[in-house]
Amino acid sequence: MNDLFRGLFSRQPEKVICGDYYYGADADGDQFDEEDRDYWLGGRFGDNWQYKQHENPVHAEVFKEVRRLFSDVSAPFLEIACGPGMGLAPIILGSNPKLGCLATDACSILIRSWREYIDKNLRDFNIGLAQFSVLDIPLADGSFENVTSYIGVSSTRAGREGQIKALKEIHRVLKDGGRFVAIESDGWADVEAVKKVYASWDPPLWKPYGDEPGETWKEMFTKCGFEIESCDKSYYHKWDKSDNEFGEQSERVGIEIGDITTLYVLRKI
Ligand SMILES: C[S@@+](CC[C@H](N)C(=O)[O-])C[C@H]1O[C@@H](n2cnc3c(N)ncnc32)[C@H](O)[C@@H]1O
Repeated sequence: MNDLFRGLFSRQPEKVICGDYYYGADADGDQFDEEDRDYWLGGRFGDNWQYKQHENPVHAEVFKEVRRLFSDVSAPFLEIACGPGMGLAPIILGSNPKLGCLATDACSILIRSWREYIDKNLRDFNIGLAQFSVLDIPLADGSFENVTSYIGVSSTRAGREGQIKALKEIHRVLKDGGRFVAIESDGWADVEAVKKVYASWDPPLWKPYGDEPGETWKEMFTKCGFEIESCDKSYYHKWDKSDNEFGEQSERVGIEIGDITTLYVLRKI
């Protein structure tokens, strides 16, 4: 484990692989396998990294704002549920390359794959890796000034209760006055298309939409102790294999699905 982060952990890992800490939380994350690893290392990780570094009209305004928010930050940040796209890290590190980043996800094969990729391709950056669930973060209270997420809280699998749990954990590991910068999903753009893809998924791995009326993000953020600094920038995000198995299924059956994502800048109060 990178010296920047070693002292922040509050429990011993179950395993240490290539210096990275693994907390055995695979059941909480996506069920990726060796085929996914080959796909990522065969080009997808590189494409994802490049994609977030270049201007794209769809999300140019949102990414520009993320870069602005981190332009004068010098303390390392924590990326949760980093996934195959590494969350906001490529956007932030593209313009602030010296910044330390602890990238984390519940899926161990994903973290092992990122380790392989980073060692070969991203050695100039200061990226630490750890495998744990955002529902149970093995870090001390007040460890970070900034936590980031790109569809990370939205990707958790335990419904609203899980999202609240994740937000409380993020709040706990932030320093007082610290910031949670998150691009999160505000819901499907076309629920009927999602239902069609779900009906074609055999066996379905999880239910990608909820019928239950629930609290809005703003209500959940406030309930978990955050003040909303801004949430006025949004864009449409089309799902595909790089998101997860459900995105992959939508590609398989040729039905486009996508959600509206919003940039939330939240302050721990
Ligand atoms: C769709 S991706 C999220 C997007 C991702 N941040 C990116 O930039 O590609 C979903 C990721 O969330 C992870 N995940 C889901 N539930 C999690 C949890 N409870 N804790 C940590 N990671 C989780 C999955 O393992 C998967 O890698």
